[in-house]
Amino acid sequence: MIAAFNIFRELCMAKKRIKMKAFSDNIRYIGADDENIDLFEGQYPVPNGISYNSYLIIDQEIAIIDTVDIRRTDNWMQNLTSQLPENRKPDYLIIQHMEPDHSGSIRKMLECYPSTRIVCTAKAASMLNDYFEDIDFTGRVIIVADGETLSLGKTTLRFLTAPMVHWPEVMLTIDETDGVLFSADAFGSFAMNDSGVDEAWDSEARRYYCNIVGRFGASVRILMKKIQPLKFSIIAPLHGPVLTENLARFWGLYDKWSSYTPETEGTLVAYASIYGGTAAAARRIADTLKARPDAHEVVLIDLCRRDVSYAVSEAFRLSSMVLCSVTYDGGIFPSMHTFIHHLCSKKLANRRIALVENGSWAPQAARIMASELSGLPGTTIIAPTLTLHSRLHRPDNATIEAICAQLP
Ligand SMILES: Cc1cc2nc3c(=O)[nH]c(=O)nc-3n(C[C@H](O)[C@H](O)[C@H](O)COP(=O)(O)O)c2cc1C
Ligand SMILES: [Fe+2]
Ligand SMILES: [Fe+2]
Repeated sequence: MIAAFNIFRELCMAKKRIKMKAFSDNIRYIGADDENIDLFEGQYPVPNGISYNSYLIIDQEIAIIDTVDIRRTDNWMQNLTSQLPENRKPDYLIIQHMEPDHSGSIRKMLECYPSTRIVCTAKAASMLNDYFEDIDFTGRVIIVADGETLSLGKTTLRFLTAPMVHWPEVMLTIDETDGVLFSADAFGSFAMNDSGVDEAWDSEARRYYCNIVGRFGASVRILMKKIQPLKFSIIAPLHGPVLTENLARFWGLYDKWSSYTPETEGTLVAYASIYGGTAAAARRIADTLKARPDAHEVVLIDLCRRDVSYAVSEAFRLSSMVLCSVTYDGGIFPSMHTFIHHLCSKKLANRRIALVENGSWAPQAARIMASELSGLPGTTIIAPTLTLHSRLHRPDNATIEAICAQLP
């Protein structure tokens, strides 16, 4: 049994080595998949798992790019020790991002390799002391500024600061010799490292971007301007697969997402309903939109049952929304409140939004939704609003037609 397991493990390792060879001869993937984390960052379901990526660059000197979450320290250490050439130690640990999903194994790393020097931004260095108060970093940290380089032998690494993509201390690293951009949290995905880069990548990379980085579009655009003139053919992010093909396509998606430009003409109909009346109106609106000869895409989401991160992702993808909520204790229903809170927190802009409210005695959800949405730049609230009294009634059809006429 153990022998069979060892053969299986060898085959898997061989597969990984072949994959890594395609990546670059001297760069090894040493990250780890996490297939059973319940919620990433305390709130995001990741049904396909997620990887914490980490890379080993072997040259006259050896550098590690980031560690992994403490949940996978053991796997990471195994990967590291199995890939390190005999009798050699890592000379540098490059910390691109101090968030614990990447810094979580620094303690273990320094216990095993106390002579390894840390390379990071000044901000990351101060965070190191906050996270690891009991470790003495004196003489162990090399602070780098934007554009500075580190030579490992034939490999030259250049560091590019990227504040607020996604924390203030973040930097990216470009291996100018191999043409590999280590992109920190940028270009990541809610996916394991060896998952494919296909339509599933698009949707989980979008959900990852909008929810994790979405608020920082302006910072992402500053970073994109900085890296655009650089030469690289591989993007190696800290989550999900390494991107080796079609980089122009990913760049195009990041251009749209970071500028809050819809990818597609279409409408997200998102509803919060208790007894089904508001849900029926949402379905009627979705069906009316779909029935038109020139129909664009329509996505219907029950905010009480679908995790809000999926709704945020669709709100980024599509050009319009219909938000439908019951009136609840003089306010709006909690799941709708949460959704709008996320849209505001992610600074979604440039959308057309129609409102549907329901109430059995004093409907006022539309007024409250409009007020909560008023902070979103470039957002238009479409008139008329549909006000339901408990259920859809025949005269409501005309209002639905009037709303749909203004949606794609
Ligand atoms: C706990 C609770 C609080 C409510 N608060 C209000 C309210 O403040 N104003 C109002 O007009 N209706 C209120 N309603 C009634 C609902 O908004 C109304 O019944 C609505 O038609 C429900 O739509 P649904 O069928 O989509 O769940 C409340 C209902 C519940 C269960
Ligand atoms: Fe992060
Ligand atoms: Fe991360």
